[in-house]
Amino acid sequence: MCGIVGYIGKRDVAPLLLEGLQRLEYRGYDSAGVVITSPKAAGLKMVKAKGRVRELEARVPKRFTGTTGIAHTRWATHGAPSDENAHPHMSGDEKVAVVHNGIIDNATELRAKLEADGTVFLSETDTEVLVHLIARSEADTLEERVRQALKHVEGTYGIAVLHADFNDRIVVARNGSPVVLGIGEKEMFVASDVAALVAHTRQVVTLDDGEMATIKADDFRTYTTEGSTTTATPTTVEWEAESYDMGGHDTYMHKEISEQPEAVDRVLRGRIDDRFSTVHLGGLNLDAREARGIRRVKILGCGTSYHAGQIGAQMIEELARIPADAEPASEFRYRDPVVDPDTLYVAVSQSGETYDVLAAVQELKRKGARVLGVVNVVGSAIARETDGGVYVHAGPEVCVVSTKCFTNTVVAFGLLALHLGRIRDLSVADGKRIIEGLRKLPAQITEILKTEDEIKALAEQYTDAKSMLFIGRVRGYPVAREASLKLKEVSYIHAEAYPASELKHGPLALIEPAMPTVAIVPDDDLLEKNRAALEEIKARSGKILAVAHQIQEKADHTIVVPKNEDELDPILMGIPLQLFAYHTALALGRDIDKPRNLAKSVTVE
Ligand code: G6P
Repeated sequence: MCGIVGYIGKRDVAPLLLEGLQRLEYRGYDSAGVVITSPKAAGLKMVKAKGRVRELEARVPKRFTGTTGIAHTRWATHGAPSDENAHPHMSGDEKVAVVHNGIIDNATELRAKLEADGTVFLSETDTEVLVHLIARSEADTLEERVRQALKHVEGTYGIAVLHADFNDRIVVARNGSPVVLGIGEKEMFVASDVAALVAHTRQVVTLDDGEMATIKADDFRTYTTEGSTTTATPTTVEWEAESYDMGGHDTYMHKEISEQPEAVDRVLRGRIDDRFSTVHLGGLNLDAREARGIRRVKILGCGTSYHAGQIGAQMIEELARIPADAEPASEFRYRDPVVDPDTLYVAVSQSGETYDVLAAVQELKRKGARVLGVVNVVGSAIARETDGGVYVHAGPEVCVVSTKCFTNTVVAFGLLALHLGRIRDLSVADGKRIIEGLRKLPAQITEILKTEDEIKALAEQYTDAKSMLFIGRVRGYPVAREASLKLKEVSYIHAEAYPASELKHGPLALIEPAMPTVAIVPDDDLLEKNRAALEEIKARSGKILAVAHQIQEKADHTIVVPKNEDELDPILMGIPLQLFAYHTALALGRDIDKPRNLAKSVTVE
């Protein structure tokens, strides 16, 4: 999704902003631009380009110097990717420049009004209305001009504004789209994502919705869009700048898959209580009496996080015996859901910024529901909007497709399920059994990762497939769904996941030699049923790749994974299929870290 980075200080700003944009590349974008000035400069200088940041870099003229600037990577919403539609956008007199993340819902009406008054538009974007609204204001301060403009605007925004007549400052505002200030030594940064800041400072201030800020080289202040001052408490970002480097791997996806043993170790660290065979989740803000009063659990997320939530729901039902299910947050918020006071709502998000999830949380809170977050990014919007939650501590995830964060999220759900179970009916012995299982995970993941060469060789045999079917039953079904999503996202091979139990109700019609099936076959009480499904496929000459705890005779290939407790098996069974998707994509020459048309975090509707 769109990215913003800005700087004010003493350094040469253009290289700094271009480097910041590179750190935001992972979010997905189709054009980029930068505008700069300096206290001594007479005006603003701007360069924009369709395509990658390196194309923008190639266009930057030799004498493009300044000490203040804002830059942007754009993901097209209003208007196709083009030089004109790239941000920043400037007013006709070239005094005002704006970069914007989000969507202005009433842009069409505002544009028509402005055009009727003679304003000439240079792009098709919704953002440009903001530029002209700011440029038309005659208020004394830039802050007031921005505030007046924002009064006309409906929708979401994270913006940064530069003005030639007020070039000692950058004014920023947030409503639904993240804005983070970075505090340096006699210099200040702004970005939509800490990834663009951590190389320079770890002291950050995250703006709330409805908040604005003025940043100057040696000072900043925050206030509401209504003008009253707010207190900004800086926090320290835990993630190191190095965590954003590739660390010797060819892709972030490969790096992040490989990091899973340590990542899982982190989500478990300090949380296990052997004495009472339970776990402590410090941020939950849910006392035992409240937790016992929960009658249902409803998990909401999008994409991979939704699949992690499906496994989570299964674990909660099994370990805590509370009815639980997961639903895409994007669907939930539009179906006028019944909000039940005895239901615990759990919002799941790696970024903590996914708009559909955030909007669902806000709707739930408006209706008085209790909402927890299972989130990776500390201090993100969803983490702040929820009543409490569990951080998944996967570390920064840069590849657009999620791998380590999925695994850590599922482990975090394992912890939540165990906690809820142990204050209800789950026995000490079962608590102990699950804890032992959780502890085994990092070593077992390491074991799986060691089989990469074998999985690579297998993947290369499936690259000709036009389409693949993924099946699993009960615990295995969400694993199949996530594996199928992973394959289609990164390799562009069509993949469809189905419950194995539904095979004969439709998908069996598709089975033929050219339609391979990936089957999740754990050694649990459903093993024989799953084997029967393999037979049905084999009888129709379908090719089968099984992920199982023992070699499956009916399968053409089996990837054998280590056995854990039945309830925790789904955590491990998806991991070889991450590698399978990765190597299929690699063999097909795909852009692994930035699959076409996808963004890392979708902060717009
Ligand atoms: C986008 C990404 C997916 C991700 C989903 C939810 O669609 O491409 O990989 O699973 O957003 O993101 P979140 O940050 O909320 O987990």
